[in-house]
Amino acid sequence: MNLSLDERARLDFVLTVRRRWADTLYPALRAQYDAAPSTGDVAADVHALPAFAWFAFIERASQKMLWRDVMDVVGARPPSGHGQSSGPASLTLDPDLVLPDWYTGWDIHVQPGGVWRNDASADVYELGAKLVMLGGNDDYTFHRAFTDTAVPDAAYRRIVDLGCGFGKSSWPFKRRFPNAEVVGLDFAAPCLRLAADRANAAGLAIAFRQADCQATGEADGSVDLVTSTMLVHELPLEALAATLAESARILAPGGVLRFLDFALTGDAFRDLSMAEHGERNNEPFMPATLAADVPAMCAAAGLVNARWVAFDERGAGRLEAQIWPVRREWHFPWAVLEAEKPA
Ligand SMILES: C[S@@+](CC[C@H](N)C(=O)[O-])C[C@H]1O[C@@H](n2cnc3c(N)ncnc32)[C@H](O)[C@@H]1O
Repeated sequence: MNLSLDERARLDFVLTVRRRWADTLYPALRAQYDAAPSTGDVAADVHALPAFAWFAFIERASQKMLWRDVMDVVGARPPSGHGQSSGPASLTLDPDLVLPDWYTGWDIHVQPGGVWRNDASADVYELGAKLVMLGGNDDYTFHRAFTDTAVPDAAYRRIVDLGCGFGKSSWPFKRRFPNAEVVGLDFAAPCLRLAADRANAAGLAIAFRQADCQATGEADGSVDLVTSTMLVHELPLEALAATLAESARILAPGGVLRFLDFALTGDAFRDLSMAEHGERNNEPFMPATLAADVPAMCAAAGLVNARWVAFDERGAGRLEAQIWPVRREWHFPWAVLEAEKPA
């Protein structure tokens, strides 16, 4: 995208603030935590640290600032009018679908209007998602690493990507498994229109469909691989349980579930920072989904071999162990939820 000098300056400013928050303020807070006496109450200990107020304030304020800048960039350009392209992708919207209050009642990620409200929502989300990763997911490398390293090799006939957004999690599946029918489902019509355009431009035959991941409309036992990226933590626990039950229903015997999301690491400081990131970043269900025993929820849904496996988004992808790479700066505890439908 061509940016004016003013737009570039505003974005550079907020991205620099975010980088310093991640690579300077977070380690400073960590050093203060490690040096302070422990009362046994991690939250109280962290909240009492001298750097905490700045850390929490800058985390939320810089996110708000970023969206404001991105919305100005998108708003200064002609409306994109997505969903009109032709090509191998297809798009099916459901005008009768009612979005639940838990989905519409929050500006997810602090993005004003969320990802669903109007056509510009998807453009704002696409640009914001790129910038928010601070260059760490350029060319969507970690989406590809997930597909390439966390998904067993097999002759999948039908793959369903739940909560596909504007499609960046679905593209690598079609690329790696070109003979499979790949379906991307999402609540947000603006994102699906953009997804269809991006897939058409890339020559990818993906069927994008508006649906609730708790009630996909897929036939019983018709899917070989059900996947999602960054969906689990966006669901209330009841919706997560229903999504796992729906996944179990649509999977064929021996079918595979692979969800990329976040898990607790066992490092009390880091885990608290992550749960509170959910609160400060308007991800209201993240603290509960992090605390939940999601593998047990998979088992309750009739899936087997359920577990979280650590994931290194910057290199190796899926790791064998529940051990994450050690890094000073703030980074997400990426993890793959693995499960299978009994054969
Ligand atoms: C953080 S985004 C991730 C998008 C995409 N998977 C990616 O990796 O870029 C989560 C997506 O899940 C969608 N979503 C949340 N709850 C949903 C539900 N119950 N049914 C369908 N989509 C849902 C949201 O609209 C959003 O597009």
